[in-house]
Amino acid sequence: MQKSVYDTENFFELYQKLRANPISLNNIVEKPTMLSLLPDLAGKKLLDLGCGTGEHLALYFAHQLQFAVGVDLSAAMLTQAAKNLADFAPHFSLHQLAMEQLDCLAEDQFDVVSSSFAFHYMADFPALLKAISAKLKVNGQLIFSQEHPIVTAYQGGERWEKNEQKEQVAYRLNFYRDEGERDRSWFKQPFKTYHRTTATIINNLIQAGFQIEQLAEPMLVDQPEWQSEFKDLQHRPVLLFVKARKVR
Ligand SMILES: C[S@@+](CC[C@H](N)C(=O)[O-])C[C@H]1O[C@@H](n2cnc3c(N)ncnc32)[C@H](O)[C@@H]1O
Repeated sequence: MQKSVYDTENFFELYQKLRANPISLNNIVEKPTMLSLLPDLAGKKLLDLGCGTGEHLALYFAHQLQFAVGVDLSAAMLTQAAKNLADFAPHFSLHQLAMEQLDCLAEDQFDVVSSSFAFHYMADFPALLKAISAKLKVNGQLIFSQEHPIVTAYQGGERWEKNEQKEQVAYRLNFYRDEGERDRSWFKQPFKTYHRTTATIINNLIQAGFQIEQLAEPMLVDQPEWQSEFKDLQHRPVLLFVKARKVR
């Protein structure tokens, strides 16, 4: 199995420190948007892809989720997820599995497949969607967030054009149409993500038999109290959310 960057030395500890901040993009923007897009979870069976430390699954259990399966590549993430979800045993199972190997998972007939901040790590999106479709009931829903295509497009140079006062005035999109692999680095560890345009993401979903139900590009328009904390969201979204239904 491929090795997760989250299992490289110090990476997980540094990531955990970052996530401990209650005023984070994850807590203020990502989780509330996911909750707003998810259907009523009472009595539902949900699969979370790239589940990380299980924070989302714990949140979904608080919304009466009946049973959850979490899949992640990282052993460190899953060890922490087992601790975070202990109160909900035996209503979940966790699997160290690459999303690329989703067909190896025995469970199927899910009502909902969710994923937060993980699909931009996937090279072959059509193959992933085919595997997800096989795991969903007909009429089941796929709800995911990923780095926005205008963010995954970045390939080098200055992301922002700034004025003389060093204020961000425009976000550069010069590599938007060049789809494919991107070399990234976080906490000094190199890893790869994959850029697809919004049109490719949506067309791949339609071709895989999904009907698009809603898109979201949160920019805190309705939460002005957070706008000064997340200045990056003033001109552009950093996350793309898609809610889609398996129709065939
Ligand atoms: C940014 S973290 C998000 C974790 C969690 N969903 C959250 O939002 O808190 C991305 C997660 O995707 C997982 N991941 C990356 N590539 C993966 C792959 N190919 N298969 C399974 N999980 C993967 C990582 O191990 C990591 O836990």
